[in-house]
Amino acid sequence: MIAPFQIASGPRVRFGRGEAAFAGEEARALGMKRPMIFTDTGIASCGVLESLTGGLEKTGLEFHLYDQVEADPSDESMARAHEAYEGSGCDGIIAAGGGSTIDTAKAAGVLAGNGGKIHDYFGFGNVPSHLPPLITVPTTAGTGSEVTCSAIVTDSTQKIKAVMASPLMFARVAVVDPELLSLMPSPIAAGTLMDALTHAIESMTSPKANPWTKALCLQAITNIGRYARRFVENPADPEPASAISLASTLAGHCFTNTGLGIVHSLSHPIGVYHHIHHGTSNAIFLPPVMRFNLQAVRADYAQIAPLLQNPAGPERIDPRDESAPQAAIDSVRSLLRDIGISATLRKSGLTSEEGFEIMAKDAAESPQVLTNPVHATEEDMLSLLRAAMDG
Ligand SMILES: [Fe+2]
Repeated sequence: MIAPFQIASGPRVRFGRGEAAFAGEEARALGMKRPMIFTDTGIASCGVLESLTGGLEKTGLEFHLYDQVEADPSDESMARAHEAYEGSGCDGIIAAGGGSTIDTAKAAGVLAGNGGKIHDYFGFGNVPSHLPPLITVPTTAGTGSEVTCSAIVTDSTQKIKAVMASPLMFARVAVVDPELLSLMPSPIAAGTLMDALTHAIESMTSPKANPWTKALCLQAITNIGRYARRFVENPADPEPASAISLASTLAGHCFTNTGLGIVHSLSHPIGVYHHIHHGTSNAIFLPPVMRFNLQAVRADYAQIAPLLQNPAGPERIDPRDESAPQAAIDSVRSLLRDIGISATLRKSGLTSEEGFEIMAKDAAESPQVLTNPVHATEEDMLSLLRAAMDG
């Protein structure tokens, strides 16, 4: 029998190559007359948004470009984005970029709809009023933020990554166009897809997982296992880009329903203190955390092991084998090697264990601990940080 569960479905998703050109039509249908495009300087200047802006021009919408989004956005940078929005006379937001851009747009929208300070809305369900209409257009394949109802905020005072989440923070439409991934540098493609894989594995093994989310997680993991190597080799190749793009959005939909696990608990403080790319830090912590969780989720790991093995390799993992759960961890490690991620903290620039205690404490107090399959204490977090130092 299937136990009762609920699904929050989020925005209408418009998926496919070339679909970014229809963001203007979507904006007009939502009643926007003057949308503000949120993005960062890199995306604004590389030409990847031409189809989107061309579509807006075609619909006759006057738009304003805000390209000052920062990576790992702080409360301060989000407040600046909100000020720019308020001063522009815009009446809706199109967030075109990676997770930092989409999260900044959500936070600016929360402030536009509710006033006050970002800190007022930290936590779950603390946003009382609707945001201006929001369209999300991801230019990376990893965060899934286009379909989630949360944003990650770097709290500049407390030096933590805080979560703000509310059903009112869902975008109205997510336009997922794999063509927008074509100019991604391969190392970014590798890092971001590891974020998507981590979302899928952490969602699949969450105590809140259900048949709906598990089915979609399995599809996301299948796509990543089959296409990750080809995607990193050439992000402009349409077939792998479509598969990885879909995997990322599916995994985002899943984790917004199930929560994440302690890979994210550990990744967030490492991001705050050492500014390691979020996908890369997930890649570093994923194998040791999988080992930590192994005994509690052996059946899930056995199921995903054949999906993650190198499709061009000679071996075929049988999920019924006693060794299959461990093979899932080994497959993640070999995937990391193949896509060029140096999966240790030391290779990412850390030279000592300085600060590990405070990061272990932050990790143990993070909300993702509650949706990890095994309870992790501060001491466990410290051991995992040490294990990740040299892999
Ligand atoms: Fe993530």
